[in-house]
Amino acid sequence: MTVYSKLLKALPTQPKVWLVTGVAGFIGSNLLEHLLKLNQTVVGLDNFVTGHQHNLDEVQGLVTAEQWAGFTFIEGDICNLEHCHKACAGVDYVLHQAALGSVPRSINDPITTNATNISGFLNMLVAARDAGVKSFTYAASSSTYGDHPALPKVEENIGRPLSPYAVTKYVNELYADVFAKTYGFKTIGLRYFNVFGKRQDPKGAYAAVIPKWAASMLLGDDVFINGDGETSRDFCFIENAVQANLLAATAVEDAKNEVYNVAVGDRTTLNDLYHALQAALAQNGKPYGKPAVYRDFRTGDVRHSQADIGKAASKLGYAPEYRIMEGIAKAMPWYIENVG
Ligand SMILES: NC(=O)c1ccc[n+]([C@@H]2O[C@H](COP(=O)([O-])OP(=O)(O)OC[C@H]3O[C@@H](n4cnc5c(N)ncnc54)[C@H](O)[C@@H]3O)[C@@H](O)[C@H]2O)c1
Repeated sequence: MTVYSKLLKALPTQPKVWLVTGVAGFIGSNLLEHLLKLNQTVVGLDNFVTGHQHNLDEVQGLVTAEQWAGFTFIEGDICNLEHCHKACAGVDYVLHQAALGSVPRSINDPITTNATNISGFLNMLVAARDAGVKSFTYAASSSTYGDHPALPKVEENIGRPLSPYAVTKYVNELYADVFAKTYGFKTIGLRYFNVFGKRQDPKGAYAAVIPKWAASMLLGDDVFINGDGETSRDFCFIENAVQANLLAATAVEDAKNEVYNVAVGDRTTLNDLYHALQAALAQNGKPYGKPAVYRDFRTGDVRHSQADIGKAASKLGYAPEYRIMEGIAKAMPWYIENVG
């Protein structure tokens, strides 16, 4: 039995109160769905800047009425300390996901990204510390590896950030570390590597690559590849990220005040991803025959990314259950149903 399967068995017998910030977003709404299905009580905080009411509605449709009654939603902003205090009251475990994602967004508007991702993060740290929560797990990012060339990425070896977004996520880690030193408030940072799955927004200028390409293919539009297509990523299916969050929230003290890579340990090029999505669509009776359109490399993008997940495996018991192809197979029906 894995550490995670034991936890999944134990949680429903010991319900806890969880706060999920960014609950109307992609990762937040998937955390909400899993926690409610485990009969947990969940408080959600979101200001809908990139999240959607329809994500919450979809979760409501996937759980029982009794489980849904365990959810309280607060429409609020992490940039407002009062909202953060209100959300943290009476909470056992915080899963802090709210932030402005996207490297290009941060290049176009560094001030707003900074305000949300740094000041908002600091508000959440203060509010969670004041509320005396049992644990605080936050969404860090593989962008923190910046220009460090080594592969696979090991937590201790980071380079210089390549974008304002990467700066903000690194500052989160610095603040988290300082809170442990100065207030004894220990946290866990999860450096996500390109998470994908259902409810990841396919729309907008800042959509992530998998939902964006899946949507373009479904609509018969061109698919654009930035650069030569040999840029690579360690794509991580959402179920793996949910597992990491639940393990981190309930981890022993010794595992705290650390950051962990959350990925699979694989490396897939954009060219291979393009063909994998084409194949998955064909399997679902939606063939897409257009060739990819290549354009310039995008400023701020890391060239290659692949995680060493040994630290999360040994200290948290993390064991990803889905590799990229399994994840794409699971996610594709959602895109087919929800795009267009
Ligand atoms: N998806 C990935 O591949 C990935 C990779 C690395 C890190 N992350 C991090 O994971 C977290 C979740 O990302 P996601 O992909 O689910 O993005 P998302 O945009 O779908 O979700 C973020 C949610 O946070 C909310 N939010 C933003 N600013 C807020 C504010 N000021 N107050 C309250 N709510 C606010 C948004 O409305 C949204 O619902 C983010 O911190 C992101 O930086 C994601």
